[in-house]
Amino acid sequence: MKKIRVSLGERSYSILVGRGAVARLPGVIKEMKFTGPVIFITDRNVLTRTAPLIPPIVRKLSNEVYRVIVPPSELSKSVAIYQDIVQKIAKKTRMHRPLIVALGGGVVGDLAGFVAATYRRGVPFIQVPTTLLAMVDSAIGGKVGVDLPEAKNLIGAFKQPRVVLMDPDFLSTLPARQLRNGLAEIIKYGIASNRTFFDYLDANVKKVLSRDKKVLEKVICECAAIKAGIVKDDEFDQKDIRIVLNFGHTLGHAIEAASKYSDDFNHGESVAIGMVMAGEIALRLEMFKADDLDRIKCLVRNAGLRFVARNVPFKEVVNAFLHDKKFTAGSNRFVLPVRIGSVKVVENIPEFLVKSVIRQYVK
Ligand SMILES: NC(=O)c1ccc[n+]([C@@H]2O[C@H](COP(=O)([O-])OP(=O)(O)OC[C@H]3O[C@@H](n4cnc5c(N)ncnc54)[C@H](O)[C@@H]3O)[C@@H](O)[C@H]2O)c1
Ligand SMILES: [Zn+2]
Repeated sequence: MKKIRVSLGERSYSILVGRGAVARLPGVIKEMKFTGPVIFITDRNVLTRTAPLIPPIVRKLSNEVYRVIVPPSELSKSVAIYQDIVQKIAKKTRMHRPLIVALGGGVVGDLAGFVAATYRRGVPFIQVPTTLLAMVDSAIGGKVGVDLPEAKNLIGAFKQPRVVLMDPDFLSTLPARQLRNGLAEIIKYGIASNRTFFDYLDANVKKVLSRDKKVLEKVICECAAIKAGIVKDDEFDQKDIRIVLNFGHTLGHAIEAASKYSDDFNHGESVAIGMVMAGEIALRLEMFKADDLDRIKCLVRNAGLRFVARNVPFKEVVNAFLHDKKFTAGSNRFVLPVRIGSVKVVENIPEFLVKSVIRQYVK
């Protein structure tokens, strides 16, 4: 079992990565000396697909155990579902302070984490991510929250978990499209902060797609370590350090928003295109080499992702970009690559340049 430490003073915690990690849950709860009720928050897909893994673990717990099941959809990150969950918890636990366990992808993690951050002014929380995206990204770093109709993640908090248990065995039931969704974020880490890791991905991307357990474990550990390193220096996202994780996200979000968060583009698919567009902007600003941009395109393609967005109106993407929250008072901020493995924040990129790049990659 690999252990990665997220060093945040009294909020420090470990990420355990390896087959059988989820079976450590009873031991972890015992070590915490937590004797109150344990609430598993999960979604219906996770419940059915991971059915054989969980009951033996629950049987080993001497705590009262309850589960709350939400629909498997981004729509579950809503104020209505949040309220429904806390009311159910209050009823089930008769006001005893519970421990919340998020068992699922990023939707469940963000929602359950927000419940843990706010219910009775905060209760302990454990993340058990079951998607590749949640393992490499959302389960680390403590950003939790729900969506509003106006925008995603508009209500939220920082709530660090006590421990994160990452078990690659969960990934055997994950649909291939969800695997690629996580792979886009993985490629992001390579470009944004580690060239050696990018080279490793270049050589092993097919093994990730075929779910080679050893390669998956290595990739999850690398990403978790990169994110833990960034989060420890900028826990509350106030120092322009955590922002590097937004590489590919400015125009990626614009594609997601322009396609109305429909099934046409999931987050990773949008970010893949957003990363190539950020590379193109950097190339045109003469701060990035054409060979490096070609390597990114090649890896994106080999990961089964596209770098051209089809069937989404150019105008809608531009509008979404202009309305993005990072676009304030006439200026804009992009995370752009300098070379593979290094990015920097660049402000005030001429609008005609951004539009021209969108025109090139949105057909
Ligand atoms: N907090 C953060 O820092 C952060 C970072 C990135 C993304 N996010 C959030 O994460 C969310 C996306 O997360 P996601 O991509 O994991 O999506 P998700 O949670 O919707 O999961 C994707 C799909 O996979 C299913 N699933 C989950 N585990 C499975 C398994 N083991 N086998 C089979 N199916 C399984 C789910 O039921 C769902 O249908 C978004 O809401 C996004 O805003 C948060
Ligand atoms: Zn992302």
